[in-house]
Amino acid sequence: MAEVILDLAIESLVRGGQQVLRDIRWTVRRGEHWAIVGPNGAGKTSLLQILAGYLWPSRGSVVVLGARFGETDLRALRKAIGVVSSALDALQPVDLDAATVVASGFEASIGMPWNGVTSEQRAAADRALSAVGAAQLASRELGTLSQGERQRVLIARALVHEPALIVLDEPCAGLDPVARERLLADLAVLAAHRSAPAVVLVTHHLEEIPPFVGHALVLAEGRRIASGPTALALTSATMTEAFGVTCDVRPDGRGRRFLVVRLP
Ligand SMILES: Nc1ncnc2c1ncn2[C@@H]1O[C@H](COP(=O)(O)OP(=O)(O)OP(=O)(O)O)[C@@H](O)[C@H]1O
Ligand SMILES: [Mg+2]
Repeated sequence: MAEVILDLAIESLVRGGQQVLRDIRWTVRRGEHWAIVGPNGAGKTSLLQILAGYLWPSRGSVVVLGARFGETDLRALRKAIGVVSSALDALQPVDLDAATVVASGFEASIGMPWNGVTSEQRAAADRALSAVGAAQLASRELGTLSQGERQRVLIARALVHEPALIVLDEPCAGLDPVARERLLADLAVLAAHRSAPAVVLVTHHLEEIPPFVGHALVLAEGRRIASGPTALALTSATMTEAFGVTCDVRPDGRGRRFLVVRLP
C-alpha cells in the first residue's frame, strides 16, 4: 500500500463565492494520525469533504490513497475511506436498523444500499459493532438510539469495510464525559492494530486528541497556521494566532492537552 496516505496542495477552495481554503499543503504518511483544529468556520469540515471525495478544490491537486483527483472515480474512492460526519449522518433514515446502517458503509451509501446487504456484509457489520462495544444495538432502529449509541454505530459504519483512512468530524460531539473517554479508548485500540487505518480527527477540544494522534494541522480563516508533530503544532502561540485571543495550552498529565482561553 502507498506510503503516502494524503498529499494535498490546495491553492484555493471557493464555496458560495467565498474563499474558504487557501494555500493548504498537507501530507499524511502511513503510520501517522492527525488532528485538525481551528475556530468555527476555519474550513475544517470543507477540508475533510475534499479528502473524502465529496468536494474538490477550485485550484490545486489532491492525492488520496494513491488516487489523484481528476484522474480517478471519486465514488470508488469514497468506498475506500471511512467517514463519520454529522452533516452526512443526519441524512440516515431513522427507521433503519443499526446493523444495516453499519453495512451501508461498504457502499458509502446513505440508507439501505441499492443491492441490499449480503450475509458477509451483515457479519462484518456485527463484528464492527462489537469492536466499538455496541453489539447489543444491532437490531435497534437508528432513531431510537441515544446520541452516544448512535455515534458508536456511525463509527462502526466507518470501519466496517476496513478502510485505509478514517475521517472523523467532531466524533465526540454530544457525548457525555464517560462515553467520550470510551470512544477515545476504542479509537486507541483500533489505532494499535497492525493494519490500522490512518485517522484524521477534527475537534474543537484539545483534550479530545488522544496520545496516539501524533500530528496536528491548525487552520484559521482557511489558512494553515501550523502543522506537524502535536508538541510543535499545538502550542499557546499557534492557538493564540488561530483563535485571535490569548490561549494557554497546558498538558493534562495523561499525554493530552487542554486549552485555557483568556478573553480580553
Ligand atoms: N455550501 C457552502 N456554501 C457557501 N459557504 C459555505 C458552504 N459550506 C461552508 N461554507 C463556508 O465555508 C467556511 C468554512 O466552513 P467549514 O464548515 O469548513 O468550517 P469548520 O472549520 O468546519 O467550522 P465548524 O468548526 O463551525 O464546524 C464557513 O465560512 C462556511 O460558512
Ligand atoms: Mg465543521
